[in-house]
Amino acid sequence: MQVQAQVQLKNLNTLNLSAIASHYVQINHPDDVIEALNFAEQHNLNALILSGGSNVLLPQQIQALVLHLNIQGINVLAEDENTITVKVGAGQVWHDFVLYSTQQQWFGLQNLALIPGLVGASPVQNIGAYGVEVGEFIDSVQVYDRQLKVFDSISGSDCHFAYRHSIFKDYPNRYIIVSVTFKLLKKADLKLSYGDLKQAVGEEFTAENLQNQVIHIRQSKLPDPKEFPNVGSFFKNPILTEAEFGKIAQHFPNIPHYPQAHSNVKVAAGWLIDQTGWKGKQLGSVGMFDKQALVLVNYADATLADVKNTYQTVQSDVKQKFNIQLEPEPVLYSEQGLIQAHHV
Ligand code: EPU
Repeated sequence: MQVQAQVQLKNLNTLNLSAIASHYVQINHPDDVIEALNFAEQHNLNALILSGGSNVLLPQQIQALVLHLNIQGINVLAEDENTITVKVGAGQVWHDFVLYSTQQQWFGLQNLALIPGLVGASPVQNIGAYGVEVGEFIDSVQVYDRQLKVFDSISGSDCHFAYRHSIFKDYPNRYIIVSVTFKLLKKADLKLSYGDLKQAVGEEFTAENLQNQVIHIRQSKLPDPKEFPNVGSFFKNPILTEAEFGKIAQHFPNIPHYPQAHSNVKVAAGWLIDQTGWKGKQLGSVGMFDKQALVLVNYADATLADVKNTYQTVQSDVKQKFNIQLEPEPVLYSEQGLIQAHHV
């Protein structure tokens, strides 16, 4: 394990924010976690866990030890007539694992193709797209528990998965995910309920075709972070009570919405932002993408302050027009390397 000083993380976060870490170490094996945490403790530093960097907002200077998770490995643990249980290192690239699973004829994750980031981050915000959330296929998550100072395995049901939420969001600085164990299907059960996916898939009901169509739809709407640095959807789709929704729908009957449990209603943040005129609009070097208003883009060397300036203006415009408070999706870090609440 080799700790490096003053490391630029610009190429390690997909929003390309310039962020210098006072200390940085790559974690290639679960045991490295303990060594790294000991180092942090000895040097009086917090530990910041960096995965694929596709859902983080980093300040310009970080006085902390950044643990860059790079644990590899895909191991089949068990198999029965209908399912296969496979343990995957936190550092595996998510999309590559999805492609591999499809090649192996393991089914379930095809709707989640092309989501940026690494496997270890997938349970944290319970990544989801096109009618599927990863939590549906997680058997357990292997973690290092910083509070109890032990390695542990948390069952899928104990992860309390919900829309863009899990136990890892409830206890933000507690767990370091070292691997994720998935339970995938051996018989395809294609999920085609979302929007125009069914039409795109047509008559070819194969997992490969479903995966290809998802890739195609994403590429047509969402910017490639290599070309337009971004963190995917910047805000969560707000979940309103029936009464709150009713009031808004009276004035805006076309608002795209999706029924949820307990009579709640999820509304499309992209549409709300679009309606305020922010689609394709910039404030300084940061703007909302012209094909998907929910995606914030760093067009030229923005800092975290520039990003905040734009997203807070978007929030306030949406609040003014719809009386809805948008909540950012990416995780915000302090200069001391701790996860922070977004200020409302
Ligand atoms: N819309 C607009 N204008 C826009 C963008 C969207 O009017 O500029 C409308 C669309 O016409 C549609 C609705 O809003 O009626 C929803 O748009 P879309 O289908 O593109 O999905 P989304 O709700 O914006 C969510 C996820 C995405 C995921 C897609 C597909 C969240 C926060 N975002 O986006 O996830 O890929 O559905 O399932 O839940 C991510 O989390 O980073 C992400 C990309």
